[in-house]
Amino acid sequence: MNNFNGTKIIGVGGALPATVVTNADLENQVDTSDEWITSRTGIKQRHVVDTETCTSLSTAAALDAMKFAGVNAEEIDLIIVATSTPDYLYPSTACLVQREIGAINAAAFDIEAACTGIVYALTVADQFIKTGASKTVLVIGADVHSRFLDWNDRNTCILFGDGAGAFVLQASTDENDILATYIKADGRKADFLNIPNFGVNYQKPGTPDKKEDQRFVQMNGKVVYEFAVSIVPDAVRAVCSKANMDLSDVDFFILHQANQRIIKAVATKLGLPDDKMVVTLDSVGNTSAASIPLALKHALTTGQIKSPARCALVGFGGGLTWGALIINWRAVAKSSL
Ligand code: UT7
Repeated sequence: MNNFNGTKIIGVGGALPATVVTNADLENQVDTSDEWITSRTGIKQRHVVDTETCTSLSTAAALDAMKFAGVNAEEIDLIIVATSTPDYLYPSTACLVQREIGAINAAAFDIEAACTGIVYALTVADQFIKTGASKTVLVIGADVHSRFLDWNDRNTCILFGDGAGAFVLQASTDENDILATYIKADGRKADFLNIPNFGVNYQKPGTPDKKEDQRFVQMNGKVVYEFAVSIVPDAVRAVCSKANMDLSDVDFFILHQANQRIIKAVATKLGLPDDKMVVTLDSVGNTSAASIPLALKHALTTGQIKSPARCALVGFGGGLTWGALIINWRAVAKSSL
C-alpha cells in the first residue's frame, strides 16, 4: 500500500551559460534597438551557450538543486527533463544527466512541451510521487534556443536566452506542497511556434537537405502574444479553483518569462499588484522550459519570495501548450543559495 500521499518540494536550482549578449550587441547584428527591445519585451540581455550544452546546463542546475535540498544522487529514483532543444534526439537529456551526476538508481526520461515543459514535468513528477511509484524526483527544465535561432531574424533572436532550472521533489506521508495542477494543449495552433527541423522534414538519406531555415525557431509573435494574454488568466483562475483558493490567497505569480508586457497584461486582467509578480526576463530573456525555476531562484535570492509562500507557476508556449500549478514554497536551503 502507498503511504506517501504528499509531494514535498525540497530544492530549487539553476544554471546559466557564461556568455552574455546585450541588446547593444544585437544592435550590431540586426536592424533593432535597445529602446525597441526594452519597450516591447522588457529584455535587456540574455545568456547564450558557447561550450556549454543542454546536458551540461541541466547537470549544473540539478547539482545546484540537490545541494539546496541536501540530497545525494543515489537517493534519486526518477529524473525528468523538460526540453525542446536537446543535444540529441536520443539518448534523452535525462539519461545524460543521470550519467553525469551518478544517479544510478534513477529511471530517466524527457518531456517535450516547449516553454510549458517544466509545468508538465512537475505535474508528471507529482503523479509519480502521489501514486507511490517514486520517492525522490529530480525535475529539470532546460533549453538552448540560441542553437536554433536565426541570428539574422530580429523577430526571434532578441527574445530567447539559454539556461536550466531544477526542482527536487520528495514523497511525504504528512506534507504536500503541490496543491493543484492544470495542463492543457491545443494542437490546432501547432504551426504558430515551431522548430521544424526533425523527422518529417528530413530528406531520404542521399538527397540534399531541406532549406537551412528549417532548423530555426519560427514564430508568429502576435498570435502567441494574444494567446498568452487570453489563456494565462483562465489557467490561473482554473488552478486556484482546483486548489480551493481565491486569487488573493496566492502570494506570488511566477509566469513563464516571455515578455514583460504579457506579465503586465495578465496582472492587469486579474487585478494583481506588481509586487506579487516575479520578473527576471530583463537579465535572462526567455529561457523557455528553464524560466520558471530560474525566476523562483532569483526571487529567493533577492528576498522577494520568503519561505513560506504560496506561488502560482504558469507556463505557456509551443504546441500550443499551457498549464499552471499552485505550490506551497516552504523549502529551506540546506546550504546557501
Ligand atoms: O515562449 C513563448 C513564446 N513566445 C512568446 O511568448 C512571444 C510572444 N510575442 C511577443 O512577445 C511579441 O509579439 C514580440 C516581442 C515577438 C513582437 O512584439 P510586437 O509588439 O508584437 O511587434 P510586431 O511583431 O507587431 O512588430 C511591430 C513592429 C513591426 O514594424 P512595422 O510593421 O510596424 O513597421 C516590426 O517589423 O516592430 C517591428 N519589429 C522590430 N523592430 C525593431 C519587430 N521586431 C523588431 C525588432 N526591432 N527586434
